[in-house]
Amino acid sequence: MDYILYEQKGNYAVLTINREKALNALNSQVLEELDGTLDAVDLSQVRCLVITGAGAKSFVAGADIGEMSTLTKEEGEAFGKKGNDVMRKIETFPIPVIAAVNGFALGGGCELSMSCDIRICSDNAVFGQPEVGLGITPGFGGTQRLARLIGAGMAKQLIYTARNIKADEAYRIGLVNGVYSQEELLPAAEKMASTIAKNAPIAVRNCKKAINEGLDADMEEALVIEEKLFGGCFETEDQKYGMAFFLDKNKEKVKEPFRNC
Ligand code: CAA
Repeated sequence: MDYILYEQKGNYAVLTINREKALNALNSQVLEELDGTLDAVDLSQVRCLVITGAGAKSFVAGADIGEMSTLTKEEGEAFGKKGNDVMRKIETFPIPVIAAVNGFALGGGCELSMSCDIRICSDNAVFGQPEVGLGITPGFGGTQRLARLIGAGMAKQLIYTARNIKADEAYRIGLVNGVYSQEELLPAAEKMASTIAKNAPIAVRNCKKAINEGLDADMEEALVIEEKLFGGCFETEDQKYGMAFFLDKNKEKVKEPFRNC
């Protein structure tokens, strides 16, 4: 891998987009390596993934403008699909994914962060969808996910004006869940990942599935999705252990880590 760093830290992992000279812009190779790295995550051990960018300046400054500049209509569509497929893989990844946005998150960078379950950012982060200033639309899911996350009115304003926003505004409109100093960002993301990884893994995965699939369904259908995933938990050892632990009145007992089962 030339452009992706991956480090497993016990039961969570940190994936870093590492193309610092181009502010971690997403060209085809970065997208392919990101896709391959996701496929290689050891899901028997890793229970939460953090995605960040290399360096102190940028998370991802967008899709690679140099590569896109000469594309034909058909090639543009194929490039959009390549990006969309990776973003969708992240969105539907079995375990939670946290974006630790450490600087510019523009265009494809904002879109990458929005495909993650949770976004937190550093105080120097800048978000935006500047595509219409380049003569294109957002192409890696921005027209769809931004509206779902912050509402259609605000999403349309940001996309039509191509205005970038700073961390405090991203927090105010609900695009990120928290803002940290640059030094505190990755530790905060890792702490959150570690907290998530301590909980019953199948239950956490089922929560992600229920929320994601429920959001795409009407309420009647969504509640059935929840019921099935809730029911499925009762076949796990973690449910039996977690509830038995609660019901056991022995105050001396120590809670064992949940097993991946
Ligand atoms: N694609 C390719 N290269 C990029 C890039 C991008 N999206 N963003 C930055 N770079 C490169 C620059 O070309 C520059 O390379 P060189 O050193 O070889 O000249 C290097 O990264 C550093 O960038 P700057 O010198 O421009 O750094 P800066 O601090 O002056 O500005 C910035 C930072 C404001 C982020 C500016 O780089 C910028 O505006 N980048 C483009 C942001 C953008 O428009 N992103 C959206 C792309 S379109 C898209 O993503 C479509 C989609 O939805 C799929």
